[in-house]
Amino acid sequence: MILIQISDLHISDPGEPLDQLARTTERLAIAVDQINAMSPRPDGVIASGDLVNECRTSEYERLRQTLAPLQVPVWLMVGNHDARDELRFVFDDHAYLGDSGFVHYTVDDLPVRLIALDSQIPGKTAGALCPTRLQWLEDQLAAQPDRPTMIFLHHPPFRSGIDRMDANGLTEGRDELAAVIARYGNVLGVYAGHVHRPISTMVGGVPAQTCPSTAHQLGLDLARRDGVTIVAEPPACLMHTWQPDSGLVTHQVYLATYPVLADIKLA
Ligand SMILES: [Fe+2]
Repeated sequence: MILIQISDLHISDPGEPLDQLARTTERLAIAVDQINAMSPRPDGVIASGDLVNECRTSEYERLRQTLAPLQVPVWLMVGNHDARDELRFVFDDHAYLGDSGFVHYTVDDLPVRLIALDSQIPGKTAGALCPTRLQWLEDQLAAQPDRPTMIFLHHPPFRSGIDRMDANGLTEGRDELAAVIARYGNVLGVYAGHVHRPISTMVGGVPAQTCPSTAHQLGLDLARRDGVTIVAEPPACLMHTWQPDSGLVTHQVYLATYPVLADIKLA
């Protein structure tokens, strides 16, 4: 199985300050082209939240248009910049999004089962996994305790060391999520977005990793307390590969074309 994770697309309307700064739609189109050109072809794409920037229907329509050329299935998740109702309205043919309440679901037709969580607190930058959402996760894991499973949520369930992002991170349910994961032996890892950087650690005894943004990245500054910087580091995504005999391996893939410096044939 090959699963591509993209995150923090932040699709913005033309002329908006973020679109001028980060060319969000253009960058997503580059990602779509690059994913379509991958060989072997991925089984699908999961987008781990902050799909748009201002919760506008017009942005979700722009997102839909930009994703349309994608030749593999895509599963959408909510982040703190998303609106559940607007997302469901524009992507009304994405049945897995449900009709109301939290946008959480499972993907059961891949070799690895995917569980997408909703860590949004509407109107807030920080995220939460309340008892209702944690119970839903526990129920899903209990239903298929023997299948290899990956868990996705927008807010990373760990402290990154970047002060302002941690202050606006997963403020409720972090320890409880780690405890749920630790109770099941079939969770391969937990994958997030939100921090616009690649960061990895362990949570509940399994790998935990964040996906960079398809658009703008945050600067790595572990000393600053009064803000964050946006830097021109390259957009990237994650490629999660899984085979029964070698397990889960995750690659970071830059969303740009780089020249080949040498092509070396090996015996
Ligand atoms: Fe974001």
